Amino acid sequence: MTQDELKQLVAREALKHVVEDAVVGVGSGSTVNCFIDALASIKGRIDGAVAASEASAERLRKHGIRVFELNAVSELQVYVDGADEITEHMHMIKGGGGALTREKIIAAVARKFVCIADASKLVPVLGRFPLPIEVIPMARSHVGRALLAMGAQPVLREGYKTDNGNLILDCRGLSIMDPPALEAELNNIAGVVTNGIFARRPADLLLLGAPEGVRSMTARR
Ligand code: 5RP
Repeated sequence: MTQDELKQLVAREALKHVVEDAVVGVGSGSTVNCFIDALASIKGRIDGAVAASEASAERLRKHGIRVFELNAVSELQVYVDGADEITEHMHMIKGGGGALTREKIIAAVARKFVCIADASKLVPVLGRFPLPIEVIPMARSHVGRALLAMGAQPVLREGYKTDNGNLILDCRGLSIMDPPALEAELNNIAGVVTNGIFARRPADLLLLGAPEGVRSMTARR
């Protein structure tokens, strides 16, 4: 099976977790694009979606799925999103597509976070994937210096602006042995909007696509 086929497999599996007659939270990225395409097949059974990126919102609308502002929705039962890396503790690195802040906000609202990923995303320890950090433009140098002092090697994502009008610094070299602690520490740097560690609000369920089928995983205690 190709990686694309694995993404389609987990995307279809995630439909089983969508609550009928409710609004579903939709993340961002290529795996989520497969989920949006699959969601179109049951669009008559949901009220609509909230989207973590303009790109996802546009794809949802093209399928005729109504897109709500998050502020217009009082509760969200389920949020479906991908990840760049995920551990068996359901801690993730996200933001490869730059939508980390809106993704983290929707994840915070949702009762259940269903992560969909192909098997290459499951890792023993986070950190091989460069950690994306969204930064207010005027704080770019300040945040860069703070990250260097922490032992990281931040690189500005060239020519890129987030949907919120901010910059992304992609960081290698951070030791992510305690993901919730590092998530909080990075968010405390003035000028950081958020960082791509999703550990304080981990996924509740991982649907992992492998050639032998979809593996459902919850956090190992
Ligand atoms: C976007 C994200 C994506 O979920 C993450 O990058 C995974 O993307 P893909 O499904 O394309 O591998 O966090 O900000």
